[in-house]
Amino acid sequence: MRNRRVMVVKRCDAIPAADSFENVDDDLPLCEELGLVVEVLLVSVDPAMRGWLSSEVNYQTVPTGSVMNSYGIGRVIESDHPEWNIGDYLYGNVGWQKFSAMDVKDVWFRVDPDSIPLEKWMNALGLTGLTAWLGLNLLGSPRAGETIVVGTAAGAVGSVVGQLARARGMRPVGITGTPKKCELASREFGYEKMINYRASGDLSLAIADACPDGIDLFFDTVGGAIADIVFEQLKVAGRVIQCGTASVSTWVPPPIGPRRERLMLVKRLRWSGFVVTDHADRFVEAQAELAALIRDGSLITREHVLEGLEQAPSSIQMLYEGLNQGRLLIRP
Ligand SMILES: NC(=O)c1ccc[n+]([C@@H]2O[C@H](COP(=O)([O-])OP(=O)(O)OC[C@H]3O[C@@H](n4cnc5c(N)ncnc54)[C@H](OP(=O)(O)O)[C@@H]3O)[C@@H](O)[C@H]2O)c1
Repeated sequence: MRNRRVMVVKRCDAIPAADSFENVDDDLPLCEELGLVVEVLLVSVDPAMRGWLSSEVNYQTVPTGSVMNSYGIGRVIESDHPEWNIGDYLYGNVGWQKFSAMDVKDVWFRVDPDSIPLEKWMNALGLTGLTAWLGLNLLGSPRAGETIVVGTAAGAVGSVVGQLARARGMRPVGITGTPKKCELASREFGYEKMINYRASGDLSLAIADACPDGIDLFFDTVGGAIADIVFEQLKVAGRVIQCGTASVSTWVPPPIGPRRERLMLVKRLRWSGFVVTDHADRFVEAQAELAALIRDGSLITREHVLEGLEQAPSSIQMLYEGLNQGRLLIRP
């Protein structure tokens, strides 16, 4: 048996294309002292990967010559750790590869494949569902009757935010890039109104029309020009969760936009940066609610699974072109 790994060969300040990576076939990794070797069953493609490969200021970077970082699910095939047995399933930083030698510090949590399908562990119970739950509940202070605006509303994070916000009695308004995704988000993801940012003409008018009383909470996954418009329509004491910047293809140099200081002051806004890994102590609590919602059928998620690591090098571009229909995953 051989390993296959997707190596980073070129870092870049734009959206990484296939030439940033090289597939390498290799020997199986060795188990380190107190470590694990896992067979990787699923990995993810995340918008954040753009930033990990860029020279911009970031919370995580991947150097050239290393395996591309990725969260995923692995089944333990070798263990030198007393708490892990062969056959156990885990979620953590496994990397874009078929087999991964792991330090247990890189494990996020155990996975029970019999209770919920692995694809859902990668989505609603993994990075993206946790981001939705923790961002909304810890930083959003959701209140019944309020209007929440969500970018990437049909995507992995946005689809869960819409449903959780709806369940808390909020009025979710979503933004996405195709009529099909608008229809899906209205039908399945709890959105009361949807806006297609590519086809709405005057986006400011479209948002004002969907939010006639203003916006209480903006779950911002897009940044850029869309965020500039939403900020203008926040109510006094409005809140913003800065979760992502999917509409900005490079931060080198930083794009120029309207200055927000006056708006922040006059409207007494609260703008909170959010990174899911800061809240690991709340994962169990978040997963308990998300798992219950999946089991009783009230949380719907979509997964888009690519087959084979050969698809990995071009998959980040695919995500930024909005071609994913749900959480983008790769089965190595
Ligand atoms: N802070 C954290 O801890 C954390 C954790 C996870 C995810 N995130 C962030 O959450 C966001 C969503 O992530 P996800 O994994 O759920 O991805 P996703 O929404 O499933 O996929 C990314 C989506 O971004 C949208 N997009 C691409 N280019 C765009 C543009 N120019 N303008 C507007 N939208 C654009 C596309 O949807 P459309 O068809 O709608 O354009 C695409 O489907 C990302 O910003 C990500 O970085 C943050």
